[in-house]
Amino acid sequence: MSAIKCIGILTSGGDAPGMNAAIRAVTRSAIYNGMKVKGIYRGYRGLITGEIEEFKTQNVSNIIQRGGTILKTARCLEFKTPEGRSQAYGTLVREGIDALVTIGGDGTLTGARCLAQEFNYPVVGLPGTIDNDLFGTDVTIGYDTALNTIMECVDKIRDTASSHDRLFFIEVMGRDAGFLALDGALASGAEAAIIPEISREQDQLSDMIEFGLRKSKNSSIVLVAESEVTGGAMGVAERVKKEYPGFDVRVTILGHLQRGGSPTAQDRIMATRMGVAAIDALLEDQRNVMIGMQSEQIVYVPFSKAIRNEKPINRDLLNILRISSI
Ligand code: F6P
Repeated sequence: MSAIKCIGILTSGGDAPGMNAAIRAVTRSAIYNGMKVKGIYRGYRGLITGEIEEFKTQNVSNIIQRGGTILKTARCLEFKTPEGRSQAYGTLVREGIDALVTIGGDGTLTGARCLAQEFNYPVVGLPGTIDNDLFGTDVTIGYDTALNTIMECVDKIRDTASSHDRLFFIEVMGRDAGFLALDGALASGAEAAIIPEISREQDQLSDMIEFGLRKSKNSSIVLVAESEVTGGAMGVAERVKKEYPGFDVRVTILGHLQRGGSPTAQDRIMATRMGVAAIDALLEDQRNVMIGMQSEQIVYVPFSKAIRNEKPINRDLLNILRISSI
């Protein structure tokens, strides 16, 4: 019999499609295993303010298909202070919550690790972010949906690009990672992707122009990852106008529409598997791990590894992009 009688669940940081599917799976698996579930609203802020509600199976009915998070989310500065975390821990004790499941990205896991370390408290994390930038998991919850959204948007922009013979720079999210830009470019048949991982080492724009961007084409689409390193789509477009005049350049920033929408089947299934795995992990006495997916198998990744290491992009994909866009 597990010592954990009641779990708390929260979503924190940027919302991601599939978070609701994860909340549903965690809740139902916990109840199935005889635990009580408490939903904590607005991420770590809800732990400080005590915005908490007991969840029954009905609380998570009819949500698997919904984007966003029914638990709401926030980026909580107070939780970054020892005083804030101490208050949060006090709430957990008062509410009789024996373990916590947190769903979010890098910042969420960092917070989870602090709580776990400072109070020797059991926390399990689920990787929920469209950025796909967490080490130790092939994919994160929300990534596939965001990628499909990007693909659909680029398909539409291509109509205009080819009708007008234009060069489009389309900025996608990713914080400091280029997964969405690179995979988005492959999926939409874009000509190139400018991503921070490579821009740090070489001038991707001049390489692209040298390689003959638009030699055999009248229109081109380049996906640019948002980042100070790449300069974003605006920065790249400004450079083209100055250094390589002659192109009819346009910029589109996809922005927050990439975070919304109904999750894809892949995200729903992965979130459900990971949600059930979070409760399995707690029952197996696992502590302070992120649930990951590697080659279709669930793995437990210590917070220290998931947070500290930079997840590498697959550099072969750049070459494939180059070959497939000549
Ligand atoms: O981490 C998810 C993400 O969408 C990043 O891709 C982006 O840089 C950031 O969040 C935007 O954050 P906010 O919604 O707080 O502006």
